[in-house]
Amino acid sequence: MTDFESAWRDRFGDAADRGAAPDDADWDRLSGFLTRRSCRRFADRPVEEPLLQALLACAQSAPSKSDLQQYSIIVIDDPDLRGSMQQWSSFDDWIATAPLFLVFCGDLRRQRRIAEMRGYEHRNDNLDTFMNTAVDAGIALATFVAAAEAAGLGCCPISVVRNHIDEASNMLGLPDGVYPVAGLALGWPEATAQISMRLPPAAVVHRNGYRDEDLPGLVDAYDAARHAVQPIAPHKQRHPDKYGITETCTWSENTARQMSVPERAAFSTFLRKRGFSLD
Ligand SMILES: Cc1cc2nc3c(=O)[nH]c(=O)nc-3n(C[C@H](O)[C@H](O)[C@H](O)COP(=O)(O)O)c2cc1C
Repeated sequence: MTDFESAWRDRFGDAADRGAAPDDADWDRLSGFLTRRSCRRFADRPVEEPLLQALLACAQSAPSKSDLQQYSIIVIDDPDLRGSMQQWSSFDDWIATAPLFLVFCGDLRRQRRIAEMRGYEHRNDNLDTFMNTAVDAGIALATFVAAAEAAGLGCCPISVVRNHIDEASNMLGLPDGVYPVAGLALGWPEATAQISMRLPPAAVVHRNGYRDEDLPGLVDAYDAARHAVQPIAPHKQRHPDKYGITETCTWSENTARQMSVPERAAFSTFLRKRGFSLD
């Protein structure tokens, strides 16, 4: 079995159906993408500044909508600031203890300022504009993660910064038009984390149009395969106060529980307060 086939098996639980795949594609490099995983335990070793600068340059090399580059990245290396931000997370201590912590932000402000600098009225502020800033920040985050993992580092995105969005934004001095999308803990991995299985491609990838009549069967099969290798620990089961702890809490059970309780309902209020119209 090639590295790619073995990586595919770890990711999806079955054999890769590659057919007559071209030999000159870089399958070793592709298997590196297939085996990626989030890292939540970091060695006591700093991320050297030249490496950080290289990774940030890789992130800035990501595509962006209309080349507008509507995102900003805040590198947080002030221990006091990280200590203050840590109080928002009850689950883990990476904000304070990971060798580095970054916050990826959507940024409408820079383009507003540029319009003003060039003597134009900036007249793009609707839901589409907001989505473009969020997508740009997300792609920059994903590109940073891919680059960091290629360099041998480990990372884990952290959405908890949006749980306390007013405080986080004030602490980071985010002006109107700039909002946090996600944090990112970064460092040299202390241990290799388990690969997290994904939904079968047939549930996610559609050809020539969207079809999901097979979804129930695909999800049942995914739940069973995933539960066999990566059962959800009792402390990771969502909303035990409402639903209790069950012995076989599958991926779909847990995600459905999560989505049954509204999260971050105040986000649109925050964005409007910070100068987004969202119309
Ligand atoms: C925007 C975003 C926010 C995330 N926030 C958290 C978080 O707050 N805590 C956490 O442990 N993992 C977080 N994750 C990581 C996901 O839980 C993880 O990617 C998912 O469980 C799949 O695992 P894998 O990355 O190891 O394949 C986040 C991922 C993304 C993309």
